[in-house]
Amino acid sequence: MIGRVVFSGIQPSGNLHIGNYLGAMRQWAAGQQAGLNIFCIVDMHAITVPQDPNVLREKTLEVAGLVVAAGVDPEKSLLFIQSHNPDHANLGWALNCFLSMGQMNRMTQFKEKSEKKDFVSVGLFDYPALMAADILLYDTTEVPVGEDQRQHVELTRNVAERFNSRFGETFVLPVPVIPKSGGRVMSLVDPTKKMSKSDADLMGAVGLLDEPDAVVKKIKLATTDSGTEIRYDVKKKPGVANLMGIYSLVKGKSLAEVEVEFQGRQYGEFKTAAADAVVGLLKPLQARYKELRSSGGLEKILANGAKKSYELSHKKLMEVYEKVGFVRQ
Ligand code: TRP
Repeated sequence: MIGRVVFSGIQPSGNLHIGNYLGAMRQWAAGQQAGLNIFCIVDMHAITVPQDPNVLREKTLEVAGLVVAAGVDPEKSLLFIQSHNPDHANLGWALNCFLSMGQMNRMTQFKEKSEKKDFVSVGLFDYPALMAADILLYDTTEVPVGEDQRQHVELTRNVAERFNSRFGETFVLPVPVIPKSGGRVMSLVDPTKKMSKSDADLMGAVGLLDEPDAVVKKIKLATTDSGTEIRYDVKKKPGVANLMGIYSLVKGKSLAEVEVEFQGRQYGEFKTAAADAVVGLLKPLQARYKELRSSGGLEKILANGAKKSYELSHKKLMEVYEKVGFVRQ
């Protein structure tokens, strides 16, 4: 019997922000009861595009620390760094041999990411094969991803089916779980765009590790319209609507309740309340994060995660090695 296995791959790049937390990370902690939840920091995917080694190292630990600080319990879930488990690269290689150039050439993300670049690595082209390996090693049933990754999960299903039909049942076919676009947190600078991890303008996003002063400043300077009414109207008042959305998510109040709460009040007052709410949200998360980083606790969690992930993945890899005809040691 195969249970529910959820595999999330997280890129160790950019700055995780309140949009990531309110939209996804907060649910990770809540969803841990059912089945096995795997959180993998995909540093091997990160190097498919140029990285500064020291920044990559720091970001990898930062993202891992934030996943735990956001409430993922390493006793219940599995958290590890992709490069700590060599099975990912090894299965990725094997899967390469069951993927055609034709299907890889159809990957739209590769086309977008390689456009107008001087140097395009083979790793970037091959990225979906490694992603398929990540997913297939653990008999994953669900893959929470953005719409942009749907095609990669389809490719994963496709290579799994091809392998299964040639060698017999080996891989479980995963399904992509794609969130509906509602409830998105938008940029504080341009509230018609999503809050982004990689926005060059740091004023657009409240980072999970931003100091309270910076949080207050960013929210006070957030783009709003020239009106005065605090009313939820995404089309006419996208900036105010975005702040209202953030406030309602943090406080667990409905948008209608927020409207009532701030009826007849000024933007300034509302912004102060929103900033306080976000500072209050981040305070315990940042305290847990600092504890994990300074105590060496994070390294222990990651070492344990690497070991546990290998115990699961290695059986699958050996099954594949056997089936393709490698001499077993
Ligand atoms: N490609 C994913 C992204 O950019 C990250 C990723 C790598 C991933 N391996 C994965 C996501 C496995 C889900 C499952 O967001």
